Amino acid sequence: MAFTLDVTSMTAPAVGAGVPDDEWPALAARFREAHAAVVAIAATGVHGYRELEAQAAERTRVAAFATSVHGAYDDIVVLGIGGSSLGAIALRTALLPAAWNARTLRERAGRPRLHVLDNVDPRTIAGVLSIIALNRTLFVVISKSGGTIETLAQYLVVRDRLAHEGLDAARHLAFVTDPARGALRAIAARDGIPVFAVPPNVGGRFSVLSPVGTLPAALCGIDVEALCTGAMVMRDATMGNDLEHNAAGLFAALQWRAHARAGMGLHVMMPYSDALRDLAPWFVQLWAESLGKVDADGAHVGPTPIASVGATDQHSQVQLFMEGPADKTVTFLRVDTAADDVEIPRLEAAEPALAFLGGHTLGELLDIECRATASALARAGRPSMTMTVGASDAWHVGGLMMWFMQATTLAGPLYRVNPLDQPGVELGKRLANKDLGHPAYQAIADEGTRPDASIPHRRLRVG
Ligand code: PA5
Repeated sequence: MAFTLDVTSMTAPAVGAGVPDDEWPALAARFREAHAAVVAIAATGVHGYRELEAQAAERTRVAAFATSVHGAYDDIVVLGIGGSSLGAIALRTALLPAAWNARTLRERAGRPRLHVLDNVDPRTIAGVLSIIALNRTLFVVISKSGGTIETLAQYLVVRDRLAHEGLDAARHLAFVTDPARGALRAIAARDGIPVFAVPPNVGGRFSVLSPVGTLPAALCGIDVEALCTGAMVMRDATMGNDLEHNAAGLFAALQWRAHARAGMGLHVMMPYSDALRDLAPWFVQLWAESLGKVDADGAHVGPTPIASVGATDQHSQVQLFMEGPADKTVTFLRVDTAADDVEIPRLEAAEPALAFLGGHTLGELLDIECRATASALARAGRPSMTMTVGASDAWHVGGLMMWFMQATTLAGPLYRVNPLDQPGVELGKRLANKDLGHPAYQAIADEGTRPDASIPHRRLRVG
């Protein structure tokens, strides 16, 4: 089995708020309209994330580079943020053995550790820099635009450290950026730094299958071809306009319908798999930044995605999901066959609280807990769906990521927004650039964009 999507608990009468039988034709028609809008938009060439055949040459360059530097580095440090880092984190967790960075070189088959900064908190950067040997490290600077201040600040810190140690930038840096634009291109050309292209029609949060995700993955030995093959199989299976046969469309349409018709706009993504746990924050960024927008009528729309993980959050958020406001859907993400399963020993036979666990496996326990939580939610009238993947390997993870990217693309016209832009984050970026002294941003007026200085501030100081 490759992938299944069980939506029983998104339907009525299984769950009262679900789709009743007589509403399916209208939902299917609405989906066909959204699909037609996507087809029209696709004709303008903006969906580069799924043109994976066109990126084959760059993938070959990535693979050749990874082969050529094999054994040269103990650590790879990704400098990037948002769509330029969350994919690498998800791939690391899903496709490298658990506790990868704590393993010995032999256990890692000579492959490097992988660190992803994803922020500018000095504590993290100083911490990573303090445990690596710079002369055995490759810093992969990833910025589609080449102008993101967090990533450029990380780069400046690293570049200065390399210079202090007299290390050659061209051997310790690699860039992933736009093929023509941005500051990183110019620096790469000047200093002979290897550089890989993010196609112009691939946006940040849709870029995990470009060198943004594939370069860090290939450097650590992840099977990038399998990743992209799984993604292409999923893409081809999610191109049609028949709701019953398009798994990405079904996911998008049911989430949108739960929001629009039942007020359930909080969309929980809950993997019951530690391998897939970082898929949840990756999905959160994709769903939130793509769909939280001002729609064609000026209304503020969009779902609020929530990352959760089972069974851990059964002891945390599940109380809210069961008895809090009925404004959520939950998507369970499970793996059909648990890798490296562990049998629970038959010990403590005289103690009923423990004895019944013996003989089961930990994978079985996790799976039973997933099903039990889904059943409990359904009994409480709370909708959920369950995605099952055959294994947490590169082929399936590529397919899963494509599933969510296709779903996001299809959800755009359902919510009547453009899922590919992010105008809402621009003002904050411009104000930060202004405050940091960027010459191109000094003309931005503060007026109306920040609390008026004459308004008394309300602050509470403790201690
Ligand atoms: O999805 C997006 O477009 C964003 O999250 C970007 O990935 C993020 O802002 C980083 O941008 P860049 O890759 O240009 O540095």
